[in-house]
Amino acid sequence: MNDHPSTDPSRRDFLALVGRGALWVTAGVTIVALLRYLSFTEPTPPQVFMLDEPSAYPLDTTTPVADGRAFIKHDERGLYAINATCTHLGCLVKQAQTGFECPCHGSQFTTTGAVTNGPATSPLKYAALSIDAAGKGPTAPRVILDLSQTVEASFRLAV
Ligand code: FES
Repeated sequence: MNDHPSTDPSRRDFLALVGRGALWVTAGVTIVALLRYLSFTEPTPPQVFMLDEPSAYPLDTTTPVADGRAFIKHDERGLYAINATCTHLGCLVKQAQTGFECPCHGSQFTTTGAVTNGPATSPLKYAALSIDAAGKGPTAPRVILDLSQTVEASFRLAV
């Protein structure tokens, strides 16, 4: 009979094997977690939105669309879209008394997106609008907003 079980070679070998196994499992889990962390990329938010019919945007109105990421405006020449992404550091501007205002650092823009107060130095961008071709015919055509496309400030979608 053995009075010192901890010195039993088979038990010591077994404990050493379990210890090494635990180390390998821990190392594997750590490496997998590290690889997942390093390969993480922000999911790209949608850029194209099927909006309402053109008649949903009456003359002289400003309508927030696409979860506040753009504003559809309608003047005498047609519809246009102002991208709500602040040109300073990318926060979403909000409608204000005199146009648009950024809640992050206070930049202010006119109703047409020109800068009136920094720190932003560039005007808000205009996004592309088009009419859903498939919507022509029995169903009413709808406005399509494409935030990935920047257009000239003079662009208007005739309605
Ligand atoms: S992100 Fe708009 S003012 Fe800084």
